[in-house]
Amino acid sequence: MNCCVVGLQWGDEGKGKVVDILAEQSDIVVRYAGGANAGHTVIIGDQKFALHIMPSGAVRPGTECVIGNGVVVDPEILGGEIDGLNGRGISLEGRLFISENAHVVLDYHKMEDQLRENSLGKNKIGTTIRGIGPCYADKIGRSYAIRMADFRDMDDLKLKLTRTADYKNKLFGALYDAEPIDIEALFAKCLAYRDKLLRYVCNTTRHLHSAIDAGKNILFEGAQGALLDLDHGTFPFVTSSNSSALGMGAGCGVPAQRVERFIGLVKAYTTRVGAGPFPSEQDNEIGDTIREKGHEYGTTTGRPRRCGWFDAVAASYSARIGGINEIAMMHLDTLAGMKELKVCRAYKIDGVETTFFPSDAHELARVECVYETVPGWDEDISGVTKYEDLPATTKSYIALIEDIVKVPVTIVGVGPKRSQAIFRR
Ligand code: GDP
Ligand code: IMO
Ligand code: MG
Repeated sequence: MNCCVVGLQWGDEGKGKVVDILAEQSDIVVRYAGGANAGHTVIIGDQKFALHIMPSGAVRPGTECVIGNGVVVDPEILGGEIDGLNGRGISLEGRLFISENAHVVLDYHKMEDQLRENSLGKNKIGTTIRGIGPCYADKIGRSYAIRMADFRDMDDLKLKLTRTADYKNKLFGALYDAEPIDIEALFAKCLAYRDKLLRYVCNTTRHLHSAIDAGKNILFEGAQGALLDLDHGTFPFVTSSNSSALGMGAGCGVPAQRVERFIGLVKAYTTRVGAGPFPSEQDNEIGDTIREKGHEYGTTTGRPRRCGWFDAVAASYSARIGGINEIAMMHLDTLAGMKELKVCRAYKIDGVETTFFPSDAHELARVECVYETVPGWDEDISGVTKYEDLPATTKSYIALIEDIVKVPVTIVGVGPKRSQAIFRR
């Protein structure tokens, strides 16, 4: 059975943990979107892994890892991840497959990301400065794009880089008075990237379809979340890829028809990093409590995450556009001890109630949340292993969300460890 795990909020829902658990029953784990802006945490015993480009299946030695064409690969970071895993006794030899069509993030993309954010001042997006937007922009623009396949012919790559540097130097010089790109230094880095990564580069679409024909189980690992989707998220405060489940097919060449389970991940509350509207945000003591109890600080940038109540309007929207048939709800343990909890079940815009999420950032900034208030629970649930053993109020809270979102919650997270997940099916 093939399965896709995708965030339904603004990222950091716990995808790394859930993918790691489900990877036990999978032959292959595939990343299909985003790049090193992602930060997926996997905790095994007392070891913690924070993966950025490498699929979270990497920590399981028998699992194949595929980096699809939709991912933007920062070779510096991916190389570092391979070394880091090697240093911990985990080898990727023979089980890592990087799409030849995946685009490459180079230093000038990160530089542009930073220069552009600086120039925007208070209007900045709050990106991760990992060069994501500039690299995807080059992909769409085509003329100055570099793909993993380009490491196969270094003479040709040097010509491409020289042309690209020439163009970008004129642009960045005029717009930002930036230092010119040092082409020799960049090329020297590319030689090292080639030596490290070229052996893994292949046609991953062909590889995945052969695996499907052979009856293998494939797990697709989303990055970011549906509300950060370039087309369907809270534009312009989004990432530069289709980070909802809709990006899966385009990002790896396997259509949704081949995937039986679309598991939408949510936290039992909502978080967001970076700028943009967030209707159920609690920029107050409640948000601070959630942040401290849930350790809500970015895995990639360390930034404090903005925290708020569960937004069922947003989750319903993400579930609908993604064809989600199951929900995994993480961090229920974090809510323990709060006297009452709120769930946003509708929005009010100009006094009119709606349950459809307006993804346009200007529209979304105008909505007011209509909350359902329910009692919380005091019990520490981090050791609970059976659904029946959860407090009645915890189960009611889950049931309320199921009732609004209209998708069953099949996995419940009660802590960051592998063992701290309850399965209902
Ligand atoms: P991802 O980007 O979706 O993979 O999520 P991150 O790794 O960025 O952030 C999720 C954080 O929550 C990580 O620190 C996880 O270890 C942690 N986590 C995941 N599930 C749970 C849970 O059920 N309870 C608690 N307390 N922490 C969790
Ligand atoms: P994972 O996979 C949370 C956010 C950034 C910023 C916006 C655009 O760990 O859930 P970008 O660098 O992509 O141009 O930034 O998107 N963002 C994330 N927020 N989790 C992520 O990934 C994110 N990846 C990007 O904070 O608001
Ligand atoms: Mg994350």
